[in-house]
Amino acid sequence: MYNKNTSGEHFETAAINSLLSLYKYFLIDLTNTIKKPVQGLKVLEVGCGPGFMLEQFESAGAKEIIGVDISEDMLQRASKRSAKSVKVQADAADLPFDSNIFDIVFSRGSIFFWSDLDKAFESIRRVTKNGGTIFVGGGYGLSTPEEIIKKIRENRSGSNENKIPRLDPEILCKKAQAYGDFAEILSAPKRGFWLNWKKVDS
Ligand SMILES: C[S@@+](CC[C@H](N)C(=O)[O-])C[C@H]1O[C@@H](n2cnc3c(N)ncnc32)[C@H](O)[C@@H]1O
Repeated sequence: MYNKNTSGEHFETAAINSLLSLYKYFLIDLTNTIKKPVQGLKVLEVGCGPGFMLEQFESAGAKEIIGVDISEDMLQRASKRSAKSVKVQADAADLPFDSNIFDIVFSRGSIFFWSDLDKAFESIRRVTKNGGTIFVGGGYGLSTPEEIIKKIRENRSGSNENKIPRLDPEILCKKAQAYGDFAEILSAPKRGFWLNWKKVDS
């Protein structure tokens, strides 16, 4: 569905029209989970799209931010939104970075489209520091106020949302645990989920 040549215009417009108020809550979900701010941390976002979360990480004072996306056009759009972050065109399954370098690997709304999940997990885990956190998921966020979600769901009925491939979060969690790491699913009905995965020393 997404590839190197995918245009980001449709998603960017849809996100500006409906999802924009959510991104700050995705950051709150992350910091609530890791129990510290992202200030001073080195963050990788996989499937960053037009850069709405890169913008959040930048405002929150992350030390280094790298946004990866398979689509070149998405990354060009992200450049308008976040000047500080470095943008890299790559597939989640083949991340072109050294091992053990990121404190946080974040991804939202992208995992559903990864063609080789096992390779992507291997690749994401490899670049994460020992003790670092992988935070991957989709949906509307767990800390997001109910009235915001309600409004968005009303506006989005009949949109592309129903065409997003489904994934069983528990299967994702088991894949992460199979590495001997800590992993859990954080979720709530009609809000989506996060896989909170902490890489242990290996
Ligand atoms: C629904 S958009 C979400 C964008 C952004 N995370 C957000 O929430 O605003 C999905 C993004 O994942 C990217 N993507 C899909 N498959 C990918 C892959 N295998 N590797 C890297 N990025 C991928 C797409 O190009 C797209 O930008």
